[in-house]
Amino acid sequence: MIKLKKKILVTCALPYINSVPHLGNLVPILSADVYTRFLRKQSNEAIYICATDEHGTRTELEAAKRKLTPDQYSRQMHNTIKNLFDWFEIQFDYFGRTHCKDNREITQAAFLKLYKKGYIFEQEITQLYCSKCKKYLPDTYVRGVCPKCKFEHAKGDQCDQCGALLNPEELIHPYCSECRSRPAPRSTKHLFLDLPKLSPQIERWVKSKKDWKGISKNLPLAWIKEGLKPRCITRDLKYGVPVPLKGYSNKVFYVWFDAPFGYVAATAEWAKKHKQNWKNWWFKDNVHYVQFMGKDNVPFHTLIWPGTLLGAGDSWHLVDYLKSNEYLNYAGTQFSKSQKTGVFTDDAAKLEFPADAWRFYIILNLPNTSDTLFSWKEFGEVINSQLVGNLGNFVNRTVTFTKKNFGTVPNVKPNATKINAVLRIKKNWEEALTKVQLKKALKFALQIGDYANMYFQHEQPWITIKTNPKKSAETIATCFEIIKILADVLEPFIPATSAKIRKQSELKNIKVLFNKVELSRLKELEAKFSGKVKSKKLDTKPMVKFQDFAKLDLRVGKIIKVENHPNADTLYKMQVSFGTEKRQVLAGLKKWYKPAQLVDKQAIFIVNLEPRNIRGEKSEAMILGTEPAKDVALISPSKKVKEGSKIC
Ligand code: 2FM
Ligand code: ZN
Repeated sequence: MIKLKKKILVTCALPYINSVPHLGNLVPILSADVYTRFLRKQSNEAIYICATDEHGTRTELEAAKRKLTPDQYSRQMHNTIKNLFDWFEIQFDYFGRTHCKDNREITQAAFLKLYKKGYIFEQEITQLYCSKCKKYLPDTYVRGVCPKCKFEHAKGDQCDQCGALLNPEELIHPYCSECRSRPAPRSTKHLFLDLPKLSPQIERWVKSKKDWKGISKNLPLAWIKEGLKPRCITRDLKYGVPVPLKGYSNKVFYVWFDAPFGYVAATAEWAKKHKQNWKNWWFKDNVHYVQFMGKDNVPFHTLIWPGTLLGAGDSWHLVDYLKSNEYLNYAGTQFSKSQKTGVFTDDAAKLEFPADAWRFYIILNLPNTSDTLFSWKEFGEVINSQLVGNLGNFVNRTVTFTKKNFGTVPNVKPNATKINAVLRIKKNWEEALTKVQLKKALKFALQIGDYANMYFQHEQPWITIKTNPKKSAETIATCFEIIKILADVLEPFIPATSAKIRKQSELKNIKVLFNKVELSRLKELEAKFSGKVKSKKLDTKPMVKFQDFAKLDLRVGKIIKVENHPNADTLYKMQVSFGTEKRQVLAGLKKWYKPAQLVDKQAIFIVNLEPRNIRGEKSEAMILGTEPAKDVALISPSKKVKEGSKIC
């Protein structure tokens, strides 16, 4: 169990500048928000620090596409992302940018310390150069077969299938992700972080984390066991933190080297505004530091970044508790902006559901130990059964009943036994949140809602108001006490709703807290976010009765002779054997089959269609094939059968 100190620093992995986050990306960001709101509520000095992760190739490329400088582009995206987080009521104490003076200075200073202590070495390396695109390929622009798991499209820095950290040169059959041509190695000088040298320190540190669980702990230990490799920390780019070393003016630090210093830089900017010294948050023992992130970020935060800080010395305060989550995926498909599949934060903000509905759903479906799936059906169920049916129902029936029957909250003592029962659940809620078990804590909050609904139902204040008004008043006073507790326990999760509940308990602004969502609406949304390729129903002809279908006589026939129709350019005149009988069949197959391809072929014919006469030749059956829109294919039995066989 985490022992909370009064000063708590909370961060979540910095979101990339290049894309609007989707619901899955929101998981660690929202989790950290819920946790920090809880901490503040418990009167800790807690700050939640975040920033956009801006440097790197992708930003340079996206900016160029828009004819903006990388900084202009980052600024725009930063504001877009910031507004979306505001919409979701993510309450950062500071939301900075990694492209800032503080980050540059802090990253460079730490680098120089590492360098002086001998944890950085220079090496002439061969780097993959794409001669078609005329550039050294950044890691993520090299794709190829993963040497570990043989996944075919592993990225040059990490395999998305097995999670292995890679160097692009290790990929088997590498290719340029932009032009698909094979890049060639060229030699250039780069700087490396000596992770093998740092490994014993990192290992000692990871092992000291007795309360860490799951991937946060197992993953780094497994990697250390396998042996850490040196990491190249420089890149041939412009948008990044310059390398403060002679001979490196054309290079910047690899984005992953400067990004985590973004946590520190944003703290420094926050501290300036609050007349504090940021070093009190990053070099002191009286701070408790909690980080939130998705599982893919764990290696960087348990090996490379701690290794960097340990190597730089200065007694940096490393993370005390690392909360990692698995993925929240989009049911049936993937989150993809280009394919228009899945819900992104900008989509969500445009729909009719309040931010609290999303917050509530996400926390209730947190991918703690395995990936979870977002589905519209479940989203609707959560709204209807929990937000409307449980919480909304209790608050609404209590306040409307009170307003109507008492006009004001009755001033009598609530039932102590009931309140104590609720407070016991609240204790569990508190313990869960202290241990960063957010889903569990939310379930305790819902348990209070269930308890309250049952209590109201059981006490029947609408009857006792006539038979025993004192009892009715006591029930209502108890309900109001529970409402207060509910507003409290819900506050970290759904802050706006919690505020509404508080208002309503003064019998002001009485309105339902949430609206029910109809199944038909959920179906609409499901279709809307399922992507470009809408699954359309077959456009069929009108239904026919089985008896009518059964009237058709379909047979296997063998084509024995093919000639051109004497008077119609597109038609063949074919002789077809049905075993006992031979018939003449006309067919428009000239464009698709040569006579030689047809002779001896078995096909399916309708043999009881009324015979037709076309330009002087009769047709006594009809051959079946696919619609002549693009390509005609005849339908044949999949093996040779007796001529004249019936099809049924
Ligand atoms: O994976 C990501 O989204 C990265 N932008 C996380 C960076 S975390 C920190 F180190 F900056
Ligand atoms: Zn290329």
